[in-house]
Amino acid sequence: MVGSILIFDSGIGGLSVFEPIQRQLPHHDIYYLFDNARLPYGDLNEQELIQGCVELIVEQVRQINASIVVVACNSASTLVLPELRKQLTIPVVGVVPAIKPAAQKSKTGHIGLLATPGTVARQYTQDLISSFAGGCKVTLVGSSELVLIAEAKAKRQTVNHAKIASILAPINNTNLDTLVLGCTHFPLLRQEIDEALTHKVVLLDSGDAIATRVMSFMDDKGNGETEVQGTLKAGYTKEIDVGLKETLADYGFTQFECIAVAN
Ligand code: DGL
Repeated sequence: MVGSILIFDSGIGGLSVFEPIQRQLPHHDIYYLFDNARLPYGDLNEQELIQGCVELIVEQVRQINASIVVVACNSASTLVLPELRKQLTIPVVGVVPAIKPAAQKSKTGHIGLLATPGTVARQYTQDLISSFAGGCKVTLVGSSELVLIAEAKAKRQTVNHAKIASILAPINNTNLDTLVLGCTHFPLLRQEIDEALTHKVVLLDSGDAIATRVMSFMDDKGNGETEVQGTLKAGYTKEIDVGLKETLADYGFTQFECIAVAN
């Protein structure tokens, strides 16, 4: 039996990466770890973010004997991958905003990146743009509010459509035709984002690409017997409410635990 796949995010955003991974690897045990005590990551200072994530992930890898880590968070991936890879001997897969495919797909030569304020400001993102979208105009929109709206939706609270429309206003005033959802929370609002856009825009995220990358590290079928479904367990750093538990149950999670986090 192999160890679990550990998928990590600040909140429920990683579910947009969990879904394609679980679809492709239904027989693997998956542990979904989210640091809701410190969400949103997009507003955290870099040192705090790096240290907290690395400690939390490394400890949980040890607890569950994980065989691979997926950092399903753009805000964290842009910072923590080198340190994690230094401290762990198992593969560590990160998320990269889909700038390259967006630049290749765009017909107007104008693309957008919708991400957290942290991700849009990072050197990592600037480098991605210069390397892969040099010939494009790129509109950057950073929003933590959209992260909180996705969290509210997962808690089964009302989604604030007017707020989404005002966040997307800078995109509606342009001729950009391809928008990168560079925060894993945002595919969970795909329909709402689509409805708030006033012209046709292709929305791109990295979920499937990450799942394919994870598959490339897997040389077995999980629990050995291909008929056996993997166990899906969720761990979080702050107690969650009933609505969120129900949402996680809808995704197939059957086990839940609140884990202590050092401050
Ligand atoms: N889901 C995360 C991302 O992909 C971060 C959201 C947040 O905590 O700000 O960037």
